Amino acid sequence: MFTKKTIQDVDVDNKTVLVRVDYNVPIADQKITDDYRIKQSLPTVKYLLEHHAKLILISHLGRPNGQVVKSYSLEPIVNVLAKLTNTKVLFANDCIGKQFDDKFKQLKPGEILLSENLRFHPEEEKNDADFAKVLAKPADLFVQDGFGVVHRAHASTDAITHFLPSVAGFLLKKEVDTITQVMANPERPMMAIIGGAKIVDKIELIKKFITLADIVAIGGAMANTFLLAQDQFIGESLADKAEIPLAKDIISLAQKEASQRDFVFSMPKDAVVASKVDPSSPTRIVDWGTHVIAEIENYPKHVPVVARTIASHEKILDIGPFSGSFIGGCMQLVKTVVWNGSMGVTEVKSLQGPVGPYAHGTELVIDALLGQFGHRPYSLVGGGDTVGYIENRGLINQFNHVSTGGGASLELMAGRKLPGVEALLDK
Ligand code: 3PG
Repeated sequence: MFTKKTIQDVDVDNKTVLVRVDYNVPIADQKITDDYRIKQSLPTVKYLLEHHAKLILISHLGRPNGQVVKSYSLEPIVNVLAKLTNTKVLFANDCIGKQFDDKFKQLKPGEILLSENLRFHPEEEKNDADFAKVLAKPADLFVQDGFGVVHRAHASTDAITHFLPSVAGFLLKKEVDTITQVMANPERPMMAIIGGAKIVDKIELIKKFITLADIVAIGGAMANTFLLAQDQFIGESLADKAEIPLAKDIISLAQKEASQRDFVFSMPKDAVVASKVDPSSPTRIVDWGTHVIAEIENYPKHVPVVARTIASHEKILDIGPFSGSFIGGCMQLVKTVVWNGSMGVTEVKSLQGPVGPYAHGTELVIDALLGQFGHRPYSLVGGGDTVGYIENRGLINQFNHVSTGGGASLELMAGRKLPGVEALLDK
């Protein structure tokens, strides 16, 4: 249960409302390539506009380290937001000071003023009270709706709440309610599929799921470190050798859990490998665990396409078909799936179609999650690269919940308190 006040618990009519959103969206050549976070902020923005509030939207973009960096400007968002809200959107070249004050004077009820990147000021990440006080000055109310950033104690998530009555927006409430409900009371059996690059980013999450879920499947580059921890040769695959002890600890934890209850911890048993990360470089399937595939030598053109060992110059770039089928098969048996992180290098585009050469494992997870093999479990998709991928595939609305948070959703799932939520008024 969400225990904080929301915009529905306070009077917002004709007020000046400062709304913290997370518009940290990918931008290439001044164009937004994934507007999911912007769209998810709309229920709060529209509600406030309908109540004739003057809206000041504040956000960060990227990590400019307290410097003004043009490529991290929020300005490209203005037109997108104006179109999505059908409302006049002003832009202030600075979130405080004269530039801001001049624009604020022009802002009318039912209009939006988007301020420039908060992180152009070093005080933002330092949670600086004086900076927060200046940010707060024009407003009557602060609304936190930037779920993706509430795991940070920054001026716009924490210090600001000392200067204004502070409540949650609809997105923040939806994210916290949905994620905490799934973690506290999942429909069982429950499966967690965890991929992505680094174990260290997801260590708390993996540990949590080892105690909570019925099946945990690991994929993506982080699986390589688990394979090394089991003395599996991985050629030139990306792996973090410093994390091998961590991977060993997790494997022991999983083994202990499996000795005490029905629990499955699965690591890839086969992989798609290539000598170069390049869509024109030939791929092979290497199967070191199942031995169900016979080795086919000298095919085609003397390149073995299926083998049992990775060559020293090869890299693992995706989970293999057996591992993908195993994950897809498990999904037929469970009621809840939490998925975080791609199974392979999904960012490499194909020379022919929409699915990249190392994205088939991830596609299989998507197909299974969306019921293509018959059964459709409840799907909670968390964070970062996974969301960008399914957004680009046009599938984002097909899952039960796709979180706008990367680190924030990981921390919430792991059971940590989020400073940007804690700081809001209690109901
Ligand atoms: C995110 O993309 O996860 C959030 O916007 C937070 O960004 P940060 O990791 O740079 O604080």
